[in-house]
Amino acid sequence: MLRSKLPDVGLTIFSVMTKLSNDYNAINLSQGFLDVDVHSDLLNLVNKYMHSGHNQYAPMQGVLILREMIADKARELYSAVYDPVSEITVTSGATEALFAAIASVVHQGDEVIVLEPAFDSYVPAIELNGGIPIYVKFRFPEYRVDWDEVKQAVTSQTRLIILNSPHNPTGAVWSGDDITALKHIVKDTEILI
Ligand SMILES: Cc1ncc(COP(=O)(O)O)c(C=O)c1O
Repeated sequence: MLRSKLPDVGLTIFSVMTKLSNDYNAINLSQGFLDVDVHSDLLNLVNKYMHSGHNQYAPMQGVLILREMIADKARELYSAVYDPVSEITVTSGATEALFAAIASVVHQGDEVIVLEPAFDSYVPAIELNGGIPIYVKFRFPEYRVDWDEVKQAVTSQTRLIILNSPHNPTGAVWSGDDITALKHIVKDTEILI
């Protein structure tokens, strides 16, 4: 008999919504399935590079040329400068990246502030790593963050604050004032964002 480490986690909302949309032949806005074919150029290029030897294990942190492209993109889009050799890791999606990041920094008993509603992979990752999720709710109807509440939620055990903008599922976008408020809260602490 397998004993679940996350007995309270049921089916993910994506499985629920995708089943409903299949059952009712509805448009599935929950998971971003496309109803157009992958462009044939892309399929041909994948085929071409697989045939020319690019079909083995990639380095753990990802193929260097891809990491260099990601660094270029971050610079162009966000003026953020990252070293592709030491500061970029390729993962197979955000869920894996988030799990790896949370597992790397959260130790037994560390508190992690989660702004609710939150993407559903955060809390299982926190709990599997011995962390304690501390919830702060967005303010309805604009889903703004109440920074006083975040400040009150911070303790000497706070290790991490997880944020997401534009926010899924509310669509709220953080303002410059939000970022300034957050900076004040984490100033002179060891809290990671
Ligand atoms: C806020 C947020 N985090 C994580 C994920 C998971 O991303 P992935 O499907 O790349 O694992 C999503 C996907 O929609 C998301 O919206």
